[in-house]
Amino acid sequence: MLQTVSIKVTPTQESKLNTVDWENLPFGKVFSDHMLVMDYKDGAWQDAEIVPFGPIPMHPAMSAIHYGQSIFEGMKANKSASGDVLIFRPDMNAKRFRESSERMCMPVIPEDMFVELVRKAVEVESNWIPSREGYSLYIRPFLFATDEFIGIKPSETYKFMIFMCPVGAYYNEPVNVKIEEFYTRASEGGVGRAKTAGNYGASLFPARLGQQKGYHQLLWTDGKTHEYVEESGTMNVVFVIDGKLVTPSEDSDTILRGVTKRSVVDLAKAWGMPVEERRVTVQEIVEANRNGTLTEAFGAGTAATIAHIAKIGYRDGDLVLPAIETRTFSQKVLAHLDDLKTGKIPDTMGWMLKV
Ligand code: COI
Repeated sequence: MLQTVSIKVTPTQESKLNTVDWENLPFGKVFSDHMLVMDYKDGAWQDAEIVPFGPIPMHPAMSAIHYGQSIFEGMKANKSASGDVLIFRPDMNAKRFRESSERMCMPVIPEDMFVELVRKAVEVESNWIPSREGYSLYIRPFLFATDEFIGIKPSETYKFMIFMCPVGAYYNEPVNVKIEEFYTRASEGGVGRAKTAGNYGASLFPARLGQQKGYHQLLWTDGKTHEYVEESGTMNVVFVIDGKLVTPSEDSDTILRGVTKRSVVDLAKAWGMPVEERRVTVQEIVEANRNGTLTEAFGAGTAATIAHIAKIGYRDGDLVLPAIETRTFSQKVLAHLDDLKTGKIPDTMGWMLKV
């Protein structure tokens, strides 16, 4: 049953819509007119409010800054040719957000309430959804601790917010990733499965070392042996080996449960392609590249969508992957997801939420 949520809307007096250069939208730098804010205090969620986008007051001792109780999600909304506003699988993000809150000792937003808050925020900003192909309204829900206290304990107060950005692709070209065998993104029993801010902060230094060598991102391996592939910095990772879709399984609590990755797996199965979700060794990727059975590799993420991987750096060399034009599965799945999100094909899986 939908937990009732009251959402007051205070519209902006000065829309920024006309100031946007829709032909040149950098990822994540243009913010829409409004944001949703909902506080948690005295053990309960307070009424939500949609207000003009802008800075928020912050106490210097705010616990999220010091101790990292901070989680987020990434989602996308699009418009169909007939003007329907569609959000891609918000129920999956609601579930992951709840799981992240639980792991980080933060209050849970019931999943149906999360979806309703997102729906309402997108409804208010529907004019901000780009119509250009490959563009979307990126939705960023997040929750952080706001206690003004520097003792270590779970905060008693929190702020949940949603802001939105019209965006194009996160990557404008096929990506090069480097297999990381020293630094660790996540360890068993840690917070790797949670979409928590610190996971991203901790990855910046190793990622910079990779970027200095010409790679866009790292391909993380397990923290214990560095023999198993886990995920990339901004996306899950998927391979096509010998006609099978192969991707690291989510059984380990070190891998983020990606919504785009899950959708790719579901589609591959629906199309009759063999799928293996299991532990994937670095050595089998090297060997499959050597013997020509590694025909495709791509990242899957909300921001990244389907990002073709051109090169995989391994130790002192590079595994060069087949030309993008030959990648039938990733091309097909990318086109299918784009068509689904923009209502060009029927939503047979029941994934889209119509606002
Ligand atoms: C997303 O894909 O939504 C993420 O949160 C990843 C980030 C690189 C933008």
